[in-house]
Amino acid sequence: MMRPTDRIFLIGARGAGKTTVASLLADRLGWRMVDADAEIERQTGCSIRSIFEREGESGFRQLEAETLRRLASFSRAVIATGGGVVVRPENRELLRRSGLVVWLRAEPEVLWRRMDTDPRTAEQRPALTSLGGLEEMQSIVAQRSKWYSECASLTIDTSARSPQDVAQMILEFLARTANEPH
Ligand code: S3P
Repeated sequence: MMRPTDRIFLIGARGAGKTTVASLLADRLGWRMVDADAEIERQTGCSIRSIFEREGESGFRQLEAETLRRLASFSRAVIATGGGVVVRPENRELLRRSGLVVWLRAEPEVLWRRMDTDPRTAEQRPALTSLGGLEEMQSIVAQRSKWYSECASLTIDTSARSPQDVAQMILEFLARTANEPH
């Protein structure tokens, strides 16, 4: 019998609720919650936005990949990843073999509305394209959906669900599949 996983990765675009759901889930499981972006900020002493400004997106992606490698060895952890973690193929492979990967998806309009009203946006969310706004969200979701789907063992549409409901669905999935590898 395979050992049940003791590591959960939440993936999905900005505004999907990864950080909120990770906290709720970690509380329910008695595991630790780790936010990958917050880890990068702690390690470098710099905000995500200033890393993008100084080192460009590729500099940030490098730090993100190094951080993911470290987090992928944590036990009893729920890990909220950054929305772009799936851009690099090596990250996608590492995610798939390191734990249960859950994709929190929603329509771009919903993601954009949530992001626009999140106070962390100014500090943590540099522009990713010259499009900005809803158009940027639509293009990012169109580009990345296949990668999120390729990594995930479980996909949850969060559009009309509270973070509590999403956390509960993940707990039920864990209970149902307790003896299967993820
Ligand atoms: C990014 C998402 C952000 C952060 C960085 C890049 C992306 O994380 O990692 O600004 O490329 O989608 P959140 O998904 O937590 O906002």
